[in-house]
Amino acid sequence: MAHPKRGAARASGAAAAGAPAGTAAGSGGSPSTAELRAGLPLVTVRDLNVAYDGPAVLDRVDLDLFPGEMVALLGASGSGKSTLMKSLTGFAPVSAGSVRVAGHDVTNLRRGELRELRSDVGQVFQQFNLIPRLSVLTGALGSAGPLNLIGGFSSTHRRRAMELLDRVGIAHKAKEPARSLSGGQQQRVAIARALMQNPRVILADEPVASLDPKLADSVLELLRGIATEDGIPVLVSLHVLPLALAHSDRIVGLRAGEILVSGETSALSAEELAPLYEEVEHDDDDE
Ligand SMILES: Nc1ncnc2c1ncn2[C@@H]1O[C@H](COP(=O)(O)OP(=O)(O)O)[C@@H](O)[C@H]1O
Ligand SMILES: [Mg+2]
Repeated sequence: MAHPKRGAARASGAAAAGAPAGTAAGSGGSPSTAELRAGLPLVTVRDLNVAYDGPAVLDRVDLDLFPGEMVALLGASGSGKSTLMKSLTGFAPVSAGSVRVAGHDVTNLRRGELRELRSDVGQVFQQFNLIPRLSVLTGALGSAGPLNLIGGFSSTHRRRAMELLDRVGIAHKAKEPARSLSGGQQQRVAIARALMQNPRVILADEPVASLDPKLADSVLELLRGIATEDGIPVLVSLHVLPLALAHSDRIVGLRAGEILVSGETSALSAEELAPLYEEVEHDDDDE
C-alpha cells in the first residue's frame, strides 16, 4: 500500500459511516462554512495562469478548499473548469502561479511525488470510467484490484471495498458486471473507487452530467455527505445552476478562464450568478 495518510479517527469515521446516502449531510450539527474555513486549506491556488498553445485558458485564478466543504465550480462550457481540476493534479500546463494540494507543491514536485499527489486526490468523472464487463466489486477496488499485477489484491482490500460499496448503497450489486448498473449506480461505484484510495481531496468533474435530475441530486448528496463526514473537501464542477445552489457550501464561478464569482452559496443571488452564462465576447487580441 501507499504511505499511511491519516489517523485512526478518520479511518474509523469512514468505516462507521454506513448510513444511506443523503441522510447525514446538512441535517443539524454540521459546521458552518465559516467554521470549516477557520482551519487550514487542503488546496491553495494563487494567481494561477494556464496556457496551452494560445492565450491563457486560466488567468489569475485563486482557490482555497477547506476540509469538509463541498465547493461547486460553475461556468459555461469552455470556461476552464476541467483545466482548473487538471492543474490540481499536475495535468495542466501551468505558466504562472502556485498550486498546493494536500501538502504537495504541484508546480514544483519532487521526483516521484506526482504519484503521491495523484494517490491523495480521488477523482470522479462524467463517464464513470468503469470497465463494463468487470464486477462492481472489481470496479470499486480500482488500482487495488486484480488488474494491479504488482500488488495483487488482498482480503483486506476486498473487505474495505465491500464496506465502501455498502456506504454508497450498492453492496447488493457487488458481483454484477458494472454494465448492468444504471448510470447513477455506476457513479456510486466510481465514488467508492475514489474513496478506496483514502483521498485527502476529491475532484468530481461533471459527475452528474450524464444522469437524470433525480439521480443527479442523490449522487451530489452522497458527495456532500462524504465531504461532511470525512472532512474531505469536494470540488465538483457543474453546469446546472440549481444543482450548485442545492448541493454546495460555496460556489466558484469561472467565465472565460477568470473567477467572476466566489462566495458562500447561501449568500449568492441568481443575479450575481447569471453573468456566468452570458455569451462571452471573443476578441482577437494576443492576451
Ligand atoms: N488539451 C488542450 N489543448 C488546448 N486547449 C485546450 C485543452 N484543453 C482545454 N483547452 C481549452 O481550454 C479552454 C477551457 O477548457 P475546459 O477546461 O475543458 O473548460 P470546461 O471544463 O469549463 O468546459 C477551452 O477553450 C478549451 O478549448
Ligand atoms: Mg469540462
